[in-house]
Amino acid sequence: MANRILTGIKPTGQLTLGNYIGVLKHLKEETERGECFYFIADLHALTLPIEPEVLRQNSIDLACFYLAAGIDTSKAHLFLQSSVSAHAELNAIMQNYLYMGELSRMTQFKDKSSKMKESAIGLGLFAYPVLMACDIVLYDANIIPVGEDQIQHVELTRDLVNRINNRYGDVLTLPKYEVRKVGARIMSLSDPTKKMSKSDPKGDIFLKDDLNVIRKKIMSAVTDSGSEVKFDEENKPGISNLLTIYAALKDISIEEAEKLFEGYRYGDFKKAVADVVCEELGAFQEKYRQILESKQYVKVLQEGAEAAQKVANVTLKRVKKAIGLLEVNE
Ligand code: TYM
Repeated sequence: MANRILTGIKPTGQLTLGNYIGVLKHLKEETERGECFYFIADLHALTLPIEPEVLRQNSIDLACFYLAAGIDTSKAHLFLQSSVSAHAELNAIMQNYLYMGELSRMTQFKDKSSKMKESAIGLGLFAYPVLMACDIVLYDANIIPVGEDQIQHVELTRDLVNRINNRYGDVLTLPKYEVRKVGARIMSLSDPTKKMSKSDPKGDIFLKDDLNVIRKKIMSAVTDSGSEVKFDEENKPGISNLLTIYAALKDISIEEAEKLFEGYRYGDFKKAVADVVCEELGAFQEKYRQILESKQYVKVLQEGAEAAQKVANVTLKRVKKAIGLLEVNE
């Protein structure tokens, strides 16, 4: 079977350099490997409170970011999750096949909910991985490029697929996650023991940050005692993170990056990292602005939704039939 590659990004908060290095930067080359389905996970964005206008703007931004990453829309379908109603419909079915125990073990749920009052935790946050599994199986996707924090959700999707297939025959395609060898988990610049996420303005580099701000953030990134530029995640998490960022953007190995900076002082090393980040994001921002202005994302999203609906509806029909939902208008 030809490859089907699928991934999604949530339009919450501002996208970070972590999202870019972990996934976005590589989506163009993925189109060489098979048919791609890339989407804006806007239903997922509702799992935490968000203002309607912010959600709308973030969704537009994200569409432009996908396009600025250079994906060829004749090979990749770009769409809004909410434009394809099969996601929600399959979700209603699949929530019966994943269990409370499994969902309570999800690290992302534990992290997010631990910061909230129990009375404010929406059911959607808890059931998030069910919808994510539906996103994946609807397109018979076999390759799921993600950052490290999403591995657990893709593993759970595999459990679901095996469960369904064992019970009803060969209904769903078994997906596999793929993470980057370098850059699957970019850390915060202010606390390099924590992941760079969308909610820490000091430790995150946002894709829309002014280049001077980006430079400042990198120059004041927390580094470690000692003076050698060496990769050692345990004892030198700050330097290791900056080395990872450099290597990922230059598409070289960590060892090659280490060699390049042998004998460098921390300050000069940081300057080199800032240069490469600003060069890459400067060009990316320029493309983003052009795409935003031209509004070309509107047509792309319309066509993407149409293509996605076609594929998703076929899977949904197959599932409904397999589990015994009566179909009267064949
Ligand atoms: P989201 O929006 O949190 O993140 C989008 C992608 O970016 C990766 N990522 C990172 N990679 C490296 N370093 C980091 N610091 C970093 N932070 C985030 C994430 O792992 C992710 O791949 N649940 C998903 C969206 C989703 C999805 C899907 C993904 C919904 N349905 C189906 C794949 C398949 C999410 O919240 O990603």
